[in-house]
Amino acid sequence: MAKVKTVFSCQECGYQSAKWLGKCPDCQQWNSFSEEEAVKPSKAGAKSIQGREGRPKTIGEIEHESVQRYATRIGEFDRVMGGGVTVGSLTLIGGEPGIGKSTLLMEVCGKLLAEQSDCKILYVSGEESESQVASRSKRLGVENSNFYIYNETSWQRIIEQVKELKPKFLVLDSIQTTHSNQVESAAGTLSQIREVTYELMSYAKAYGLTCFVIGHVTKEGQIAGPKILEHMVDTVIYFEGDQLGQYRMLRVMKNRFGNTNEVGIFEMRETGLREISNPSQYFLEQSLPGSYGRSLTCILEGSRSLFVEIQALVVENKFAVGRRTTQGLDSNRVALLVAVIDKYLALPLSYNDIYVNVVGGMKLSTRENDLSVIASLLSSYFQHPIESDTIFLGEVGLTGEVRSVPMMEIRLKEITQMNYRRVITSKRAADDFRGKFKLDIVGISKASELKELLFKTT
Ligand code: TYD
Ligand code: MG
Repeated sequence: MAKVKTVFSCQECGYQSAKWLGKCPDCQQWNSFSEEEAVKPSKAGAKSIQGREGRPKTIGEIEHESVQRYATRIGEFDRVMGGGVTVGSLTLIGGEPGIGKSTLLMEVCGKLLAEQSDCKILYVSGEESESQVASRSKRLGVENSNFYIYNETSWQRIIEQVKELKPKFLVLDSIQTTHSNQVESAAGTLSQIREVTYELMSYAKAYGLTCFVIGHVTKEGQIAGPKILEHMVDTVIYFEGDQLGQYRMLRVMKNRFGNTNEVGIFEMRETGLREISNPSQYFLEQSLPGSYGRSLTCILEGSRSLFVEIQALVVENKFAVGRRTTQGLDSNRVALLVAVIDKYLALPLSYNDIYVNVVGGMKLSTRENDLSVIASLLSSYFQHPIESDTIFLGEVGLTGEVRSVPMMEIRLKEITQMNYRRVITSKRAADDFRGKFKLDIVGISKASELKELLFKTT
């Protein structure tokens, strides 16, 4: 028997090398190489998409059919998908283990079955046993004679069943546990993932099978095996959230049939996922009257504005180097803002332990909440509460200047609608929008002006 030619490929980016490497020269990842069967490019390229005629057509010949969608009536899900699930599309759902991917797809299946009487759905699970999947499906109330559960990891056996059953929808839970006998390497390796996705994609396109594929994410939060997979499929969505908290966010990263600027917000309950269709105030907790060290900001997730509370605790520490702990915010960003306060407000914050949290488990990655972080820190330091009808919107630079944030108008609209009274922002934004909303818009050009503005009595 001829020796199988192998190659080492980086499981992160797909870089290939004839010998094992400790560090990928392309994506700089350590320990990411694993040995796989070499697939000659001609072999992959020669495969024609099954059942498709290969002939160039003029525009006149191509029927202008608009994409057909199945609405699930789970509003948050449909919106993220661009108005429903597109017929014959392949959607990849990524997320950490235990976040609720299987639960979400099970509920989607339930809705699709309820909406369409003649449709069969095949749920292939390589992760859990049939009885585990069945008990979850019972718990979620997805009991239907057209719902088929199949515990299998071999791609060849799965596709055999698909051909026989002819379902309208297929759920593959997960891509990492499915393996094809056409490729020598183990399940979950790049070449397996590529092969299975390619085969699934070809089948889906040829027969109009609508597929959902679950993918695991790595420690860094990318779908394992990766970028290649994301390039191949039609839609990529991530399901994320705080494992300890209840909220879950569905975020679209790529969508050939819709826009990518959407998020869906859910809450994980005992009885499954519940949509939060009006989330703007969802992340705010009832606060104690007169409490200090907290302020509010308005962030954008997709096209929606959400209010979040940033809490800070500043405690004097005479004996050791001040400790910095943050949750939901980048600790380097907080350190920078502390340095700004230290320098431009001449407050010795360096000698304090500092804790900063975002309430509700949200993770903020943008800088539009800088001003709110500073306000909370000052409020804690001076032990002086900030009125809860005030929203802070501004980025703060290294020279202590306050900058505007994008999409001011959308935020101000929501702030007005939610009956807040005052917005503290950059001078420029205040000049642009003053008088256009029923709000007191206060502009400051330096972060140091906050002290005077908020704590006049101290
Ligand atoms: P699951 O969908 O299995 O996550 P994933 O497929 O992403 O790994 O969901 C896992 C968690 O969700 C599990 O810890 C239990 C919880 N859960 C609920 O809180 N309520 C429910 O109705 C269900 C089905 C699960
Ligand atoms: Mg699962």
